[in-house]
Amino acid sequence: MANPPPVICVDGPSGSGKGTLARAIAKKLDWNILDSGSLYRIVGLYAYSFDVSVEDDDALKQVVESLDIEFANERSPNIVVNGRDVTQAIRGEEATRYASLVAKREKVRAALLVRQKGFRRPPGLVADGRDMGTVVFPDAKLKIYLDASPEERARRRYAELKDKGLNVSLPDLFQSLKERDAQDKNRRVSPLKVAPDAFVLDSTGLSIAEVIAQALAAAKQKGLQITN
Ligand code: C5P
Repeated sequence: MANPPPVICVDGPSGSGKGTLARAIAKKLDWNILDSGSLYRIVGLYAYSFDVSVEDDDALKQVVESLDIEFANERSPNIVVNGRDVTQAIRGEEATRYASLVAKREKVRAALLVRQKGFRRPPGLVADGRDMGTVVFPDAKLKIYLDASPEERARRRYAELKDKGLNVSLPDLFQSLKERDAQDKNRRVSPLKVAPDAFVLDSTGLSIAEVIAQALAAAKQKGLQITN
């Protein structure tokens, strides 16, 4: 594409608030959105459901190729895979754990790369994940690395799940968050790391409105027009 649509990336560790920020920016600019974590969660869910070993690259590649994914859109807020609504299931414990395991596999990442690039459509794309700025959209107009202390991320997740009426333990959440951090940062392929040209935004102690305001200011500095 001679002049590909602009991209804003929001990368960072689990629970840093990437999804909330990405949705707010996309709404403000009226751009498309890619929640890349949901792709890994879908592959994780299917690997788990069909008892596919997370070490069996060829079987995992087949899983990816068999997935017909309909993302949430204006007509439907749900994620439907091969005719099944998986919106809730991909947030479950097993899908979450398996997502990080399948995300380590080079073949899975390669197979998902094409799908992710396909989201880049006019007028622009806000992409959230771990390697959006480093691997998938290296030419992004703005790369935000959204961070927060592990304690604060665990507390936010705890409050969110409690709000949903779920019975969770803060120490358990903290532990699983640290494990996912370690897996995401230390894997060989596409580890979570700060892109050299990223704007690092530490949201510890900031309100959602403050985080959004800082991100939009960074977008303006990059010459993006923010009108509404
Ligand atoms: O962002 P979310 O928590 O939904 O992502 C689920 C898992 O998918 C992460 O823990 C990470 O291991 C993986 N992931 C990834 N690369 C991305 C997005 C998510 O490896 N771009």
